[in-house]
Amino acid sequence: SFVKHPKHLKLASDGVAPHWDVAQLQRGMQVYREVCSACHSLNLVAFRNIEDLGYTEGQVKTFAKSFQVPSVNPDTGEPATRDGLPSDYFPAPYANEVAARAANNNAVPPDLSLITKAREGGKDYIYSLLTGYQNPPANLPKELQPGAGLHFNPYFPNLNLAMAKPLADSQVTYADGTTASVDQMAKDVTAFLVWTAEPKLVTRVWAGWAVLGFLVIFSILTYLSYRNIWADKK
Ligand code: HEM
Repeated sequence: SFVKHPKHLKLASDGVAPHWDVAQLQRGMQVYREVCSACHSLNLVAFRNIEDLGYTEGQVKTFAKSFQVPSVNPDTGEPATRDGLPSDYFPAPYANEVAARAANNNAVPPDLSLITKAREGGKDYIYSLLTGYQNPPANLPKELQPGAGLHFNPYFPNLNLAMAKPLADSQVTYADGTTASVDQMAKDVTAFLVWTAEPKLVTRVWAGWAVLGFLVIFSILTYLSYRNIWADKK
């Protein structure tokens, strides 16, 4: 088969002692904002949620305000837009599916909020897809070659997808000075999409450890109290 197995992406949020690499999540959000948001929505994330990424309330307000969100003109009832508020969700790039298809060769860019959960291979797949664009191999049969408006990518299950290579070196200028290689941006935006899909991942794992710790202590106490209760019944 010409389909490749995804490359492994190691993140701080992996494993049994996870944490968020907040600087990486901020860079990833910058990539989403400046590149992916032109075509992909992020319906399940509210601006106020990015306080988790280390932004202050004031920064969240300023960030939200830089977006126009759908609204209604109170006088005419006509659709309108207004400045975003922290309680708003990231606005979608297209008004509806018809508009999305019209702009993308009849394909729909999926919402990215849960994409690292929705696709087989998860974050490894997303990272591999973003870094995997290449020319089709010379021995690729004619029927597997990219048709009009499609782009070859060995990590995509169909081999050819409607999304062109979205990242090029230095596409963004990182606020923290990190060099914006394709690989770096792909890692960062994937880390961000791991957070959007499960913002409580780190809290969940550490709550699990706290529960286990409590159970161990409680079991010891129970055992000692059992010994104490029966101590005189030899
Ligand atoms: C599909 C991520 C930028 C248009 C996808 C998919 C992902 C993704 C994960 C789903 C692939 C699958 O179904 O398995 C991203 C990321 C971007 C980005 C992280 C930014 C770095 C863009 C941009 C455009 C775009 C800028 C439009 C110019 C599309 C379209 C599809 C798609 C049309 C559907 C492809 C198909 O089903 O054939 N993208 N994307 N994407 N994306 Fe993007």
